[in-house]
Amino acid sequence: MLNKKEIVMSGIRPTGFLHLGNYFGAVKNYVRLQDEFECFFMVADLHSLTTHPDTKELKQNVERVLAENIACGLDPDKVALYCQSHIFETSELYLYLTMMAYKGELEKTTTFKDKARSQPDNINAGLLTYPVLQAADILLHRAMLVPVGKDQEQHLEMARTFVNRFNHRYGDIFPEPSAFNYGEDLVKVPSLDGAGKMSKSENQLATLYLSDSDELIRKKVMKAKTDSGPTEPGMAKPDYIENIFLLMKLVSEPAQVNKFLEDYDQCRIRYGDMKKQLAEDMVRFISPIREKADSIRNDKAYLKAVMEKGAEKARKSARLTMALVREAIGLNYY
Ligand code: TRP
Repeated sequence: MLNKKEIVMSGIRPTGFLHLGNYFGAVKNYVRLQDEFECFFMVADLHSLTTHPDTKELKQNVERVLAENIACGLDPDKVALYCQSHIFETSELYLYLTMMAYKGELEKTTTFKDKARSQPDNINAGLLTYPVLQAADILLHRAMLVPVGKDQEQHLEMARTFVNRFNHRYGDIFPEPSAFNYGEDLVKVPSLDGAGKMSKSENQLATLYLSDSDELIRKKVMKAKTDSGPTEPGMAKPDYIENIFLLMKLVSEPAQVNKFLEDYDQCRIRYGDMKKQLAEDMVRFISPIREKADSIRNDKAYLKAVMEKGAEKARKSARLTMALVREAIGLNYY
């Protein structure tokens, strides 16, 4: 008998376009996980309603996020790639878990406080119970490993709290989930303006999206901040120069990186040449992903088939869990 593989679960918000930071920080991890574990990757469309109640672009955004993730190498035949709203069991488990979550702890959650501040006219209960819905996503598959970034640690901590309360009250049903990452792959992708990491909310020209045209990629890279160069051999690099090297290490041949490192140390580096090289290597990296994502996005029949197949796999696992949950709670009168 084969060993039962450990269960991995993560959610992807369908708001915004994937950028290089998402690729190296998350998607690349997913792609690697899919060969080793039983994986559930979910588009968090219900979660997006807490902040984006206008659904005019929802379908388009869901399709984009699916297409981009598949274009990056996520294989819908290997993983369950599905939409949260297709699995009604999620909403049921969410309901039970809300009775194990206290108002006080929900109000203290960092993401809640941030979002309440940024949308003071729509501090809805869904926003408050966002971590409860997220816990339901994870517990629905009794997942142990949750590949997420640092910003989600608090939500995972809360999921563990709900697990312990549930198990204590109704019997051991759920394992405790924990954040999971391949340590060496936790790459921070720096932004092109030398300030912080690439993100969708910061300077648009400093973030490379997987949907950027070749021309736009070149333009953004050529605009990256540099200076007149080192004046003494072996000088330390300012952050914005270090960042260009970091980006180059992600997409360029090691020989190229080493050449420019040496040029830097010998004070003969020409940043224009370096950025030209980086721009071409970025184009070579991003353009096949963009083209693949575009063609998937235009293939509605394929996208529908992916969603159906994903939902079927997710539902199967959800039903098993929910039968146990109802039984444990005592909702089994006949
Ligand atoms: N809250 C997560 C984010 O903002 C998305 C998410 C929803 C998620 N459900 C999840 C992540 C379940 C991990 C597990 O990125």
